[in-house]
Amino acid sequence: MKKVIFSGIAPSGTIQIGNYLGAIKQWIKIQESGEFRTIFCVVDEHAITIPQDPEKLRAKIMEVATLYLATGINPEKSLIFIQSHVSDHAELNWILNTITPLGELQRMTQFKDKSQKQKSILAGLLNYPTLMAADILLYQTDLVPVGEDQLQHIELTRMLAKKFNAQFGETFTVPEPMINKTGARIMGLDNPEHKMSKSAENPNNYIALLDPPEIIRKKIKVAVTDSSSEIKYDKEKKPAVSNLLAIYGLFAEKTIEEIEKKYQGKGYSEFKKDLAEVIVEGLAPLQARYKELEKNPDAVMAILKKGAEKAKETASQTMSEVRQKIGFI
Ligand code: AMP
Ligand code: TRP
Repeated sequence: MKKVIFSGIAPSGTIQIGNYLGAIKQWIKIQESGEFRTIFCVVDEHAITIPQDPEKLRAKIMEVATLYLATGINPEKSLIFIQSHVSDHAELNWILNTITPLGELQRMTQFKDKSQKQKSILAGLLNYPTLMAADILLYQTDLVPVGEDQLQHIELTRMLAKKFNAQFGETFTVPEPMINKTGARIMGLDNPEHKMSKSAENPNNYIALLDPPEIIRKKIKVAVTDSSSEIKYDKEKKPAVSNLLAIYGLFAEKTIEEIEKKYQGKGYSEFKKDLAEVIVEGLAPLQARYKELEKNPDAVMAILKKGAEKAKETASQTMSEVRQKIGFI
């Protein structure tokens, strides 16, 4: 049997190049290897752990699903669906909540960060990692390709799988994280101390996958740099330039050394000008595909519906077993 890969992105904010380099690009590689059963989900139930405007949310769900397809997730090779279309996610979330220690949820870094920004902290935000565990465990997932920031959530998922198995008998596969080393943490263009984020308030923090060329050029132009003018990778002393070098390398498929060599003795402005073009070119094919797909939302919807039907087949098997094991009739 092929090993199962599961991952997802919440349709909140604007999908940015950190999501692409840290997560989606790796998903496509895994899909193309043909070695795995690949499942990619638009996790709308996670999006509502932060208050969302319903109309905007609806548009975002479609945008993320369309971006999945535009970046190369192929419905012939991978399952792609919307989380809320498979109600088993919510049901397993509930059951897992009953074995999740409150303290574990309270100590999650992402919860602490996100709750600080909210006027009132809602229970759904606290329970976010349990829902994520439900997503993963429903499909008997072996590997979860995500960015580094999600490691703590995967650790919790592993703990819950083991705890459930120990308490009720062998039921869930215990998943492993799969981290893409180079693109694991793309930092904000406005501040290299914090990761690039699709929910950043300052749009100069990120480059969205759908940013037009003029915007990309403008954002790179104003991206912060470090004090000395050398183009050199040094995460400690030159965090901003190191981040730009990493982005350059990932888009141009060049090593950091190659790029450093190319810009030896040259200044930031030339480096930045080229970097902008590398990103513009890197995103052009997927932007063109997005424009095509966007014209036919019904076709995208049909793919998502079919994906949900298929996902339900596996999810409902897991759920029957879970209900039986915990003593439901
Ligand atoms: P999020 O935007 O937090 O919903 O994350 C969706 C996926 O993209 C997760 O796998 C994250 O780990 C990954 N990701 C988000 N931001 C970055 C970033 N700045 N660098 C690398 N990966 C990221
Ligand atoms: N929490 C993840 C993130 O912010 C998104 C997510 C939800 C996810 N469910 C998942 C990722 C299951 C991998 C597997 O990136």
